Amino acid sequence: MADFTLQELTAQTIVAANGLTLKPGQEAFLEPETYTHAEEGLDPAGSWPRVVMDGDRVVGYIMGTFDADAREEYLRAALWRIEVAEGAQGMGVGRFAVQALADEARARGFDRITVVWASGEAGPGAFFKAVGFQIVGQTPYGENLGALQLS
Ligand SMILES: CC(C)(COP(=O)(O)OP(=O)(O)OC[C@H]1O[C@@H](n2cnc3c(N)ncnc32)[C@H](O)[C@@H]1OP(=O)(O)O)[C@@H](O)C(=O)NCCC(=O)NCCS
Repeated sequence: MADFTLQELTAQTIVAANGLTLKPGQEAFLEPETYTHAEEGLDPAGSWPRVVMDGDRVVGYIMGTFDADAREEYLRAALWRIEVAEGAQGMGVGRFAVQALADEARARGFDRITVVWASGEAGPGAFFKAVGFQIVGQTPYGENLGALQLS
């Protein structure tokens, strides 16, 4: 497996992260409707954006959000967004990024992280299951709610 590293955002990596190209049809899954509706209520102080580097190349982006006091349990320690460059998919970048978010959540005292996704052929459901999320419910918008236990 390649030697990936995690970095905080810089002026340069933000541009690269914004420019990540996905596979056809994947873009539609980037922002579940549930999150679109919940976004305004997020605590900006709890946002945890990181890029995944392969050497000096940005190959992925992950955004977590933490708010122990959030009204909805699925907004307390959540994977908000994850994307991996088309040419780097299937090489473990996504798994690495989720692991990093899990480590961060554990360090902050959470015992699980959650994620919401829409079902669909080009969607991330198989990935989330492969890295350990289990479906624990549906959101009011009919999307999947997954949880990864951090014990
Ligand atoms: C979902 C996504 C982040 C996965 O990233 P990735 O780097 O390709 O995933 P990995 O290589 O780390 O794969 C980890 C595991 O998931 C599995 N997996 C990943 N994508 C899969 C797919 N489309 N179908 C089946 N299994 C898949 C891999 O086989 C691997 O399993 P294994 O370790 O048991 O062999 C990437 O496909 C992506 O950017 N998708 C578009 C954006 C998106 O939908 N984001 C989620 C909502 S914000």
